[in-house]
Amino acid sequence: MTISSSVDQTLSLGESVGQTLRGGEILALAGDLGTGKTHFVKGLARGLGIKDSVSSPTFTLIHEYRGGRLPLNHFDFYRLNSETEALAIGLDEYLDGDAVTAIEWGDKFQNLLPASTRWIRFHHLEEGKRGIEF
Ligand SMILES: Nc1ncnc2c1ncn2[C@@H]1O[C@H](COP(=O)(O)OP(=O)(O)OP(=O)(O)O)[C@@H](O)[C@H]1O
Ligand SMILES: [Mg+2]
Repeated sequence: MTISSSVDQTLSLGESVGQTLRGGEILALAGDLGTGKTHFVKGLARGLGIKDSVSSPTFTLIHEYRGGRLPLNHFDFYRLNSETEALAIGLDEYLDGDAVTAIEWGDKFQNLLPASTRWIRFHHLEEGKRGIEF
């Protein structure tokens, strides 16, 4: 498990991962509220060369970022109530392409995610510290 001792470290970890991506990767982010999933995705976007500011898609369910080295789709399953709802917003189509897809609360509907999905698990340690398992 990698320890992140600050928001900046979580951003940097995301950025490093973002720099390695080649397109088509699906990253499922699992972990309790406030463990740093959104901040990690902000870093991912930075690593992909995306200049837009990244915010949680909690209410809109999906954000698409273009203009970087690869497109980034950012989902958050937190407010989704069923697999049917996830499919209705076009999840399968997003997963099919060459974009990178990051899914917060991906463990909520893990049946919808392919076997190739990379799981990243976030843990709350002490104040200001998070554990990130790749
Ligand atoms: N090491 C750390 N890494 C990331 N965030 C941290 C860290 N230490 C403290 N924090 C704080 O934890 C919170 C993480 O928020 P963030 O929105 O990234 O979490 P989240 O996992 O996406 O939550 P949610 O499940 O609500 O979507 C922020 O308020 C941030 O300031
Ligand atoms: Mg979040």
